[in-house]
Amino acid sequence: MSIVKDPALAEAGRRKIQWVRDFMPALGGIEARFEKEQPFAGLRIAVSVHLEAKTANLGFVLQKGGAQVRLTGSNPLSTQDDVAAGLASLGVETFGIHGASAQEYESHLIETLKFKPHLVVDDGGDLIHLLGGKCADLAENLIGGCEETTTGILRLRAREREGILPCAMMAVNDAKAKHYYDNKYGTGQSVWDAIMHTTNLVVAGKTVVVAGYGWCGKGVAMRAHGMGAHVIVTEVDPFKALDATMNGFQVMPMDEAARYGDVFVTVTGCKDVITPRHFAVMKHNALLTNAGHFDCEVDVASLAEMAVSQELRRDNIVGYILPDGRVLNVIGEGRLVNLAAGNGHPAEIMDMSFAVQALALEWLVHNRDHLEKKVYHVPASIDDEIGRVKLAAMGLSIDTLTPEQVDYLNGWKA
Ligand SMILES: NC(=O)c1ccc[n+]([C@@H]2O[C@H](COP(=O)([O-])OP(=O)(O)OC[C@H]3O[C@@H](n4cnc5c(N)ncnc54)[C@H](O)[C@@H]3O)[C@@H](O)[C@H]2O)c1
Repeated sequence: MSIVKDPALAEAGRRKIQWVRDFMPALGGIEARFEKEQPFAGLRIAVSVHLEAKTANLGFVLQKGGAQVRLTGSNPLSTQDDVAAGLASLGVETFGIHGASAQEYESHLIETLKFKPHLVVDDGGDLIHLLGGKCADLAENLIGGCEETTTGILRLRAREREGILPCAMMAVNDAKAKHYYDNKYGTGQSVWDAIMHTTNLVVAGKTVVVAGYGWCGKGVAMRAHGMGAHVIVTEVDPFKALDATMNGFQVMPMDEAARYGDVFVTVTGCKDVITPRHFAVMKHNALLTNAGHFDCEVDVASLAEMAVSQELRRDNIVGYILPDGRVLNVIGEGRLVNLAAGNGHPAEIMDMSFAVQALALEWLVHNRDHLEKKVYHVPASIDDEIGRVKLAAMGLSIDTLTPEQVDYLNGWKA
Protein backbone atom coordinates (compact mmCIF):
# COMPACT_ATOMS: atom_id res chain seq x y z
CA MET A 1 0.00 0.00 0.00
CA SER A 2 1.49 3.33 -1.05
CA ILE A 3 1.79 6.27 1.36
CA VAL A 4 1.20 9.55 -0.49
CA LYS A 5 -0.29 12.89 0.54
CA ASP A 6 -3.42 12.81 -1.60
CA PRO A 7 -4.34 10.14 -4.19
CA ALA A 8 -6.67 12.69 -5.83
CA LEU A 9 -3.55 14.46 -7.19
CA ALA A 10 -2.79 11.43 -9.39
CA GLU A 11 -3.99 12.88 -12.69
CA ALA A 12 -1.78 15.99 -12.38
CA GLY A 13 1.13 13.71 -11.45
CA ARG A 14 0.55 11.39 -14.40
CA ARG A 15 0.58 14.44 -16.73
CA LYS A 16 4.00 15.48 -15.35
CA ILE A 17 5.32 11.93 -15.79
CA GLN A 18 3.98 11.69 -19.35
CA TRP A 19 5.58 15.06 -20.22
CA VAL A 20 9.09 13.95 -19.20
CA ARG A 21 8.69 10.57 -20.91
CA ASP A 22 8.52 12.39 -24.25
CA PHE A 23 11.96 13.93 -23.58
CA MET A 24 13.80 10.85 -22.28
CA PRO A 25 14.51 8.90 -25.50
CA ALA A 26 17.55 6.93 -24.26
CA LEU A 27 15.59 5.56 -21.31
CA GLY A 28 12.62 5.01 -23.66
CA GLY A 29 14.77 2.78 -25.90
CA ILE A 30 15.90 0.79 -22.87
CA GLU A 31 12.28 0.50 -21.72
CA ALA A 32 11.25 -1.02 -25.07
CA ARG A 33 14.03 -3.64 -24.81
CA PHE A 34 13.34 -4.33 -21.11
CA GLU A 35 9.67 -4.90 -21.87
CA LYS A 36 10.64 -7.70 -24.30
CA GLU A 37 13.55 -9.20 -22.35
CA GLN A 38 12.22 -8.81 -18.78
CA PRO A 39 15.69 -8.62 -17.14
CA PHE A 40 14.20 -8.06 -13.68
CA ALA A 41 11.52 -10.76 -13.74
CA GLY A 42 10.94 -12.02 -10.20
CA LEU A 43 13.17 -9.34 -8.64
CA ARG A 44 12.30 -6.55 -6.21
CA ILE A 45 13.91 -3.11 -6.60
CA ALA A 46 13.86 -0.38 -3.90
CA VAL A 47 14.50 3.15 -5.19
CA SER A 48 15.29 6.27 -3.12
CA VAL A 49 15.83 9.20 -5.46
CA HIS A 50 14.25 12.70 -5.47
CA LEU A 51 10.60 11.85 -5.93
CA GLU A 52 9.71 13.90 -9.00
CA ALA A 53 8.67 13.09 -12.55
CA LYS A 54 11.96 11.85 -14.04
CA THR A 55 12.51 9.50 -11.09
CA ALA A 56 8.93 8.28 -11.45
CA ASN A 57 9.70 7.44 -15.06
CA LEU A 58 12.74 5.40 -13.96
CA GLY A 59 10.54 3.48 -11.50
CA PHE A 60 8.02 2.85 -14.24
CA VAL A 61 10.70 1.60 -16.67
CA LEU A 62 12.12 -0.83 -14.08
CA GLN A 63 8.60 -2.13 -13.50
CA LYS A 64 8.18 -2.64 -17.27
CA GLY A 65 11.39 -4.67 -17.09
CA GLY A 66 9.64 -7.17 -14.85
CA ALA A 67 10.58 -5.84 -11.38
CA GLN A 68 8.35 -5.23 -8.42
CA VAL A 69 9.35 -1.65 -7.57
CA ARG A 70 9.03 0.36 -4.36
CA LEU A 71 10.02 4.00 -4.59
CA THR A 72 10.59 6.82 -2.11
CA GLY A 73 12.25 10.25 -2.16
CA SER A 74 15.79 11.10 -1.11
CA ASN A 75 14.93 14.44 0.47
CA PRO A 76 11.61 15.41 2.08
CA LEU A 77 11.53 18.81 0.35
CA SER A 78 12.07 17.50 -3.17
CA THR A 79 9.10 15.11 -3.08
CA GLN A 80 6.28 16.27 -5.34
CA ASP A 81 2.96 15.06 -3.98
CA ASP A 82 1.19 14.96 -7.34
CA VAL A 83 3.97 12.88 -8.90
CA ALA A 84 3.94 10.50 -5.91
CA ALA A 85 0.18 10.03 -6.31
CA GLY A 86 0.52 9.64 -10.10
CA LEU A 87 3.22 7.00 -9.79
CA ALA A 88 1.24 5.07 -7.16
CA SER A 89 -1.73 5.08 -9.57
CA LEU A 90 0.54 3.49 -12.22
CA GLY A 91 1.14 0.48 -9.94
CA VAL A 92 4.51 1.41 -8.45
CA GLU A 93 4.32 1.30 -4.65
CA THR A 94 5.28 4.82 -3.59
CA PHE A 95 6.16 6.22 -0.17
CA GLY A 96 6.71 9.96 0.16
CA ILE A 97 5.12 13.19 1.33
CA HIS A 98 6.49 16.66 0.65
CA GLY A 99 7.84 18.28 3.82
CA ALA A 100 7.80 15.04 5.84
CA SER A 101 9.50 15.25 9.24
CA ALA A 102 12.83 13.46 9.71
CA GLN A 103 11.02 10.54 11.42
CA GLU A 104 8.36 10.27 8.69
CA TYR A 105 11.06 10.47 6.03
CA GLU A 106 12.93 7.57 7.64
CA SER A 107 9.72 5.56 7.99
CA HIS A 108 9.15 5.98 4.22
CA LEU A 109 12.67 4.71 3.53
CA ILE A 110 12.00 1.69 5.74
CA GLU A 111 8.63 0.96 4.05
CA THR A 112 10.51 0.94 0.75
CA LEU A 113 12.85 -1.73 2.09
CA LYS A 114 10.34 -3.93 3.89
CA PHE A 115 9.84 -6.22 0.88
CA LYS A 116 13.52 -7.25 1.20
CA PRO A 117 14.80 -5.96 -2.15
CA HIS A 118 17.19 -7.74 -4.50
CA LEU A 119 18.45 -4.41 -5.90
CA VAL A 120 18.54 -0.83 -4.62
CA VAL A 121 18.91 2.55 -6.28
CA ASP A 122 20.21 5.12 -3.80
CA ASP A 123 20.84 8.87 -4.00
CA GLY A 124 23.05 10.04 -1.15
CA GLY A 125 23.27 6.69 0.61
CA ASP A 126 20.18 6.63 2.86
CA LEU A 127 19.03 3.12 1.84
CA ILE A 128 22.51 1.64 2.21
CA HIS A 129 22.86 3.39 5.58
CA LEU A 130 19.73 1.58 6.79
CA LEU A 131 20.59 -1.75 5.15
CA GLY A 132 24.05 -1.65 6.71
CA GLY A 133 22.66 -0.88 10.19
CA LYS A 134 19.15 -0.50 11.59
CA CYS A 135 17.53 -2.56 8.77
CA ALA A 136 20.25 -5.19 8.27
CA ASP A 137 17.52 -7.86 8.57
CA LEU A 138 16.04 -6.57 5.29
CA ALA A 139 19.32 -7.05 3.38
CA GLU A 140 19.25 -10.85 3.02
CA ASN A 141 18.26 -10.90 -0.69
CA LEU A 142 20.55 -8.12 -1.86
CA ILE A 143 22.36 -8.67 -5.15
CA GLY A 144 23.64 -5.12 -5.36
CA GLY A 145 22.75 -1.51 -5.93
CA CYS A 146 23.51 1.76 -7.67
CA GLU A 147 24.45 5.14 -6.17
CA GLU A 148 23.44 8.30 -8.00
CA THR A 149 25.50 11.11 -6.47
CA THR A 150 29.03 12.22 -5.54
CA THR A 151 28.31 12.46 -1.81
CA GLY A 152 26.77 8.96 -1.73
CA ILE A 153 29.81 7.46 -3.46
CA LEU A 154 32.19 9.09 -0.95
CA ARG A 155 30.25 7.32 1.79
CA LEU A 156 30.23 4.00 -0.06
CA ARG A 157 34.00 4.16 -0.47
CA ALA A 158 34.38 4.92 3.25
CA ARG A 159 32.24 1.83 4.02
CA GLU A 160 34.25 -0.24 1.53
CA ARG A 161 37.51 0.80 3.29
CA GLU A 162 36.05 -0.31 6.62
CA GLY A 163 34.71 -3.57 5.15
CA ILE A 164 31.07 -2.77 6.00
CA LEU A 165 29.48 -2.41 2.57
CA PRO A 166 26.29 -4.54 2.64
CA CYS A 167 26.46 -5.45 -1.08
CA ALA A 168 28.12 -4.67 -4.43
CA MET A 169 27.46 -1.06 -5.46
CA MET A 170 27.78 0.62 -8.86
CA ALA A 171 29.18 4.18 -8.82
CA VAL A 172 26.66 5.58 -11.29
CA ASN A 173 27.75 9.18 -10.61
CA ASP A 174 31.23 8.39 -11.90
CA ALA A 175 30.01 7.28 -15.34
CA LYS A 176 30.73 9.87 -18.04
CA ALA A 177 27.10 9.71 -19.15
CA LYS A 178 26.20 10.90 -15.65
CA HIS A 179 28.57 13.53 -14.26
CA TYR A 180 29.60 15.19 -17.56
CA TYR A 181 25.92 16.07 -18.14
CA ASP A 182 23.89 15.81 -14.94
CA ASN A 183 26.34 17.42 -12.52
CA LYS A 184 27.57 20.08 -14.94
CA TYR A 185 24.74 21.01 -17.31
CA GLY A 186 21.86 19.74 -15.15
CA THR A 187 22.94 21.51 -11.96
CA GLY A 188 24.08 24.51 -14.02
CA GLN A 189 20.61 25.06 -15.43
CA SER A 190 18.31 23.82 -12.66
CA VAL A 191 20.01 25.79 -9.86
CA TRP A 192 19.40 29.05 -11.72
CA ASP A 193 15.93 28.02 -12.77
CA ALA A 194 15.06 27.44 -9.09
CA ILE A 195 16.73 30.64 -7.80
CA MET A 196 15.13 32.79 -10.49
CA HIS A 197 11.59 31.53 -10.14
CA THR A 198 11.73 31.44 -6.33
CA THR A 199 13.10 35.01 -6.00
CA ASN A 200 11.81 36.64 -9.22
CA LEU A 201 15.06 38.68 -9.20
CA VAL A 202 17.59 39.43 -11.93
CA VAL A 203 20.91 37.56 -12.16
CA ALA A 204 22.72 39.96 -14.51
CA GLY A 205 24.91 42.46 -12.71
CA LYS A 206 24.90 40.55 -9.43
CA THR A 207 27.98 39.14 -7.72
CA VAL A 208 27.53 35.38 -7.41
CA VAL A 209 29.79 33.37 -5.10
CA VAL A 210 30.06 29.69 -6.08
CA ALA A 211 31.68 27.53 -3.37
CA GLY A 212 33.26 24.45 -4.97
CA TYR A 213 34.43 24.30 -8.60
CA GLY A 214 33.87 20.59 -9.18
CA TRP A 215 31.52 19.15 -11.80
CA CYS A 216 28.46 20.91 -10.38
CA GLY A 217 30.21 24.16 -9.48
CA LYS A 218 31.58 24.52 -13.03
CA GLY A 219 28.05 24.35 -14.41
CA VAL A 220 26.64 26.79 -11.83
CA ALA A 221 29.47 29.30 -12.44
CA MET A 222 29.28 28.97 -16.22
CA ARG A 223 25.53 29.65 -16.36
CA ALA A 224 25.76 32.56 -13.89
CA HIS A 225 28.46 34.13 -16.09
CA GLY A 226 26.32 33.47 -19.18
CA MET A 227 23.48 35.47 -17.63
CA GLY A 228 25.71 38.44 -16.90
CA ALA A 229 26.69 37.87 -13.27
CA HIS A 230 30.12 38.61 -11.87
CA VAL A 231 31.31 35.22 -10.53
CA ILE A 232 33.63 34.57 -7.58
CA VAL A 233 34.74 30.98 -6.90
CA THR A 234 35.93 29.61 -3.54
CA GLU A 235 37.89 26.33 -3.50
CA VAL A 236 40.19 24.16 -1.37
CA ASP A 237 41.86 22.38 -4.32
CA PRO A 238 44.63 24.41 -5.99
CA PHE A 239 44.02 22.96 -9.46
CA LYS A 240 40.27 23.53 -9.36
CA ALA A 241 41.06 27.10 -8.25
CA LEU A 242 43.50 27.50 -11.17
CA ASP A 243 40.90 26.07 -13.54
CA ALA A 244 38.33 28.61 -12.31
CA THR A 245 40.88 31.41 -12.77
CA MET A 246 41.68 30.28 -16.33
CA ASN A 247 37.95 30.34 -17.06
CA GLY A 248 37.87 33.99 -16.09
CA PHE A 249 36.44 33.74 -12.58
CA GLN A 250 37.81 35.53 -9.52
CA VAL A 251 39.10 33.14 -6.84
CA MET A 252 39.37 33.98 -3.14
CA PRO A 253 38.62 32.41 0.26
CA MET A 254 35.06 32.52 1.58
CA ASP A 255 36.22 34.85 4.36
CA GLU A 256 36.76 37.51 1.66
CA ALA A 257 34.01 36.52 -0.76
CA ALA A 258 31.38 36.71 2.00
CA ARG A 259 31.58 40.53 1.86
CA TYR A 260 30.95 40.77 -1.88
CA GLY A 261 28.28 38.22 -2.71
CA ASP A 262 24.70 39.08 -3.63
CA VAL A 263 23.96 35.38 -4.21
CA PHE A 264 25.81 32.42 -2.68
CA VAL A 265 25.63 28.87 -4.04
CA THR A 266 27.49 26.17 -2.09
CA VAL A 267 28.14 22.97 -4.03
CA THR A 268 31.10 21.30 -2.36
CA GLY A 269 29.73 18.11 -0.77
CA CYS A 270 31.57 19.36 2.36
CA LYS A 271 30.16 20.86 5.57
CA ASP A 272 30.40 24.28 7.27
CA VAL A 273 31.24 26.16 4.10
CA ILE A 274 29.26 29.29 5.12
CA THR A 275 29.27 29.85 8.89
CA PRO A 276 28.61 32.64 11.46
CA ARG A 277 31.82 34.55 10.72
CA HIS A 278 30.64 34.84 7.11
CA PHE A 279 27.07 35.83 8.04
CA ALA A 280 28.62 38.60 10.18
CA VAL A 281 30.01 40.43 7.14
CA MET A 282 27.45 39.70 4.42
CA LYS A 283 25.50 42.37 2.57
CA HIS A 284 21.93 43.21 3.54
CA ASN A 285 19.52 41.00 1.55
CA ALA A 286 22.14 38.51 0.39
CA LEU A 287 20.62 35.26 -0.92
CA LEU A 288 21.98 32.00 0.49
CA THR A 289 21.48 28.74 -1.35
CA ASN A 290 23.00 25.27 -1.31
CA ALA A 291 23.16 22.83 -4.22
CA GLY A 292 25.28 20.15 -2.53
CA HIS A 293 23.63 16.93 -1.47
CA PHE A 294 23.17 17.53 2.27
CA ASP A 295 21.93 20.63 4.07
CA CYS A 296 25.16 21.07 6.05
CA GLU A 297 27.01 23.46 3.71
CA VAL A 298 25.27 26.63 4.91
CA ASP A 299 25.02 26.64 8.71
CA VAL A 300 21.37 27.67 8.83
CA ALA A 301 20.95 26.56 12.47
CA SER A 302 23.64 29.03 13.61
CA LEU A 303 22.12 31.76 11.44
CA ALA A 304 18.80 31.18 13.20
CA GLU A 305 20.59 31.55 16.57
CA MET A 306 22.26 34.81 15.47
CA ALA A 307 18.98 36.27 14.21
CA VAL A 308 16.64 38.32 16.40
CA SER A 309 13.72 37.09 14.30
CA GLN A 310 12.86 35.37 11.05
CA GLU A 311 10.04 35.74 8.56
CA LEU A 312 8.73 33.98 5.48
CA ARG A 313 9.50 36.49 2.72
CA ARG A 314 8.17 34.54 -0.28
CA ASP A 315 7.29 30.88 -0.71
CA ASN A 316 10.45 28.92 0.16
CA ILE A 317 12.47 32.01 1.24
CA VAL A 318 13.07 32.67 4.94
CA GLY A 319 14.63 36.02 5.90
CA TYR A 320 16.83 35.99 9.03
CA ILE A 321 16.89 39.43 10.64
CA LEU A 322 20.20 40.13 12.38
CA PRO A 323 20.66 42.46 15.38
CA ASP A 324 22.11 45.20 13.12
CA GLY A 325 19.01 45.11 10.88
CA ARG A 326 20.56 43.21 7.96
CA VAL A 327 18.41 40.46 6.48
CA LEU A 328 19.95 37.28 5.06
CA ASN A 329 17.62 35.22 2.87
CA VAL A 330 17.83 31.42 2.81
CA ILE A 331 16.10 29.54 0.00
CA GLY A 332 14.65 26.06 0.55
CA GLU A 333 16.02 25.72 4.11
CA GLY A 334 19.55 25.35 2.74
CA ARG A 335 18.61 22.01 1.16
CA LEU A 336 19.66 21.43 -2.41
CA VAL A 337 17.98 24.39 -4.05
CA ASN A 338 17.24 22.96 -7.48
CA LEU A 339 15.09 20.23 -5.92
CA ALA A 340 13.83 21.86 -2.71
CA ALA A 341 12.75 24.98 -4.63
CA GLY A 342 12.56 23.67 -8.19
CA ASN A 343 11.88 20.73 -10.45
CA GLY A 344 15.38 19.26 -10.53
CA HIS A 345 17.39 18.77 -13.69
CA PRO A 346 15.77 18.95 -17.12
CA ALA A 347 14.29 15.71 -18.46
CA GLU A 348 16.82 15.43 -21.31
CA ILE A 349 19.65 15.42 -18.74
CA MET A 350 18.09 12.86 -16.39
CA ASP A 351 17.51 10.71 -19.47
CA MET A 352 21.26 10.06 -19.47
CA SER A 353 21.65 9.56 -15.71
CA PHE A 354 18.71 7.17 -15.45
CA ALA A 355 19.77 5.27 -18.57
CA VAL A 356 23.00 4.57 -16.65
CA GLN A 357 20.96 3.47 -13.62
CA ALA A 358 18.82 1.08 -15.69
CA LEU A 359 21.78 -0.52 -17.51
CA ALA A 360 23.90 -0.70 -14.35
CA LEU A 361 21.11 -2.60 -12.57
CA GLU A 362 20.88 -4.99 -15.50
CA TRP A 363 24.69 -5.46 -15.35
CA LEU A 364 24.43 -6.35 -11.65
CA VAL A 365 21.80 -9.01 -12.42
CA HIS A 366 23.90 -10.49 -15.26
CA ASN A 367 26.95 -10.63 -13.00
CA ARG A 368 25.20 -11.63 -9.78
CA ASP A 369 27.20 -14.83 -9.32
CA HIS A 370 30.58 -13.05 -9.32
CA LEU A 371 29.95 -9.89 -7.30
CA GLU A 372 31.97 -8.82 -4.29
CA LYS A 373 30.99 -6.30 -1.63
CA LYS A 374 32.84 -3.42 -3.26
CA VAL A 375 32.23 -0.27 -5.29
CA TYR A 376 32.20 -1.03 -9.04
CA HIS A 377 32.78 1.38 -11.93
CA VAL A 378 30.09 1.41 -14.56
CA PRO A 379 31.62 -0.49 -17.52
CA ALA A 380 32.82 1.77 -20.37
CA SER A 381 30.65 -0.21 -22.79
CA ILE A 382 27.51 1.03 -20.95
CA ASP A 383 28.78 4.62 -20.98
CA ASP A 384 29.59 4.48 -24.69
CA GLU A 385 26.26 2.90 -25.60
CA ILE A 386 24.34 5.67 -23.80
CA GLY A 387 26.49 8.37 -25.42
CA ARG A 388 25.80 6.97 -28.88
CA VAL A 389 22.07 6.50 -28.27
CA LYS A 390 21.80 10.07 -26.98
CA LEU A 391 23.65 11.50 -29.98
CA ALA A 392 21.41 9.55 -32.32
CA ALA A 393 18.30 10.76 -30.47
CA MET A 394 19.54 14.33 -30.98
CA GLY A 395 19.98 13.66 -34.71
CA LEU A 396 23.79 13.91 -34.47
CA SER A 397 26.49 11.56 -35.70
CA ILE A 398 30.26 11.44 -35.27
CA ASP A 399 33.26 9.96 -37.07
CA THR A 400 34.45 6.39 -36.57
CA LEU A 401 38.11 5.41 -36.19
CA THR A 402 39.52 3.42 -39.13
CA PRO A 403 41.47 0.23 -38.25
CA GLU A 404 44.67 2.11 -39.23
CA GLN A 405 43.81 4.93 -36.83
CA VAL A 406 43.15 2.42 -34.04
CA ASP A 407 46.58 0.85 -34.68
CA TYR A 408 48.20 4.29 -34.71
CA LEU A 409 46.62 5.28 -31.40
CA ASN A 410 47.49 1.98 -29.73
CA GLY A 411 51.01 1.52 -31.08
CA TRP A 412 54.38 3.24 -30.87
CA LYS A 413 56.13 2.37 -34.15
CA ALA A 414 54.60 5.24 -36.19
N1 LIG B 1 22.01 19.77 -6.82
C1 LIG B 1 22.10 18.72 -7.61
O1 LIG B 1 21.21 18.43 -8.39
C2 LIG B 1 23.33 17.86 -7.57
C3 LIG B 1 23.69 17.06 -8.68
C4 LIG B 1 24.84 16.29 -8.61
C5 LIG B 1 25.61 16.30 -7.46
N2 LIG B 1 25.21 17.07 -6.38
C6 LIG B 1 25.98 17.13 -5.13
O2 LIG B 1 26.79 18.32 -5.21
C7 LIG B 1 27.99 18.14 -4.45
C8 LIG B 1 29.20 18.39 -5.36
O3 LIG B 1 29.21 17.40 -6.39
P1 LIG B 1 30.32 17.43 -7.56
O4 LIG B 1 30.01 16.28 -8.46
O5 LIG B 1 30.46 18.80 -8.11
O6 LIG B 1 31.62 17.08 -6.68
P2 LIG B 1 33.15 17.34 -7.04
O7 LIG B 1 33.92 16.45 -6.16
O8 LIG B 1 33.36 17.29 -8.53
O9 LIG B 1 33.36 18.88 -6.62
C9 LIG B 1 33.34 19.35 -5.29
C10 LIG B 1 34.34 20.53 -5.25
O10 LIG B 1 34.21 21.21 -3.99
C11 LIG B 1 35.49 21.53 -3.54
N3 LIG B 1 35.41 21.69 -2.07
C12 LIG B 1 35.34 20.72 -1.12
N4 LIG B 1 35.24 21.27 0.11
C13 LIG B 1 35.25 22.61 -0.08
C14 LIG B 1 35.16 23.72 0.80
N5 LIG B 1 35.05 23.55 2.12
N6 LIG B 1 35.18 24.97 0.26
C15 LIG B 1 35.31 25.16 -1.08
N7 LIG B 1 35.39 24.13 -1.96
C16 LIG B 1 35.36 22.89 -1.46
C17 LIG B 1 36.37 20.36 -3.97
O11 LIG B 1 37.73 20.71 -4.02
C18 LIG B 1 35.80 20.05 -5.35
O12 LIG B 1 36.44 20.78 -6.38
C19 LIG B 1 27.89 16.74 -3.86
O13 LIG B 1 27.30 16.81 -2.59
C20 LIG B 1 26.95 16.03 -4.83
O14 LIG B 1 26.35 14.90 -4.24
C21 LIG B 1 24.11 17.85 -6.42
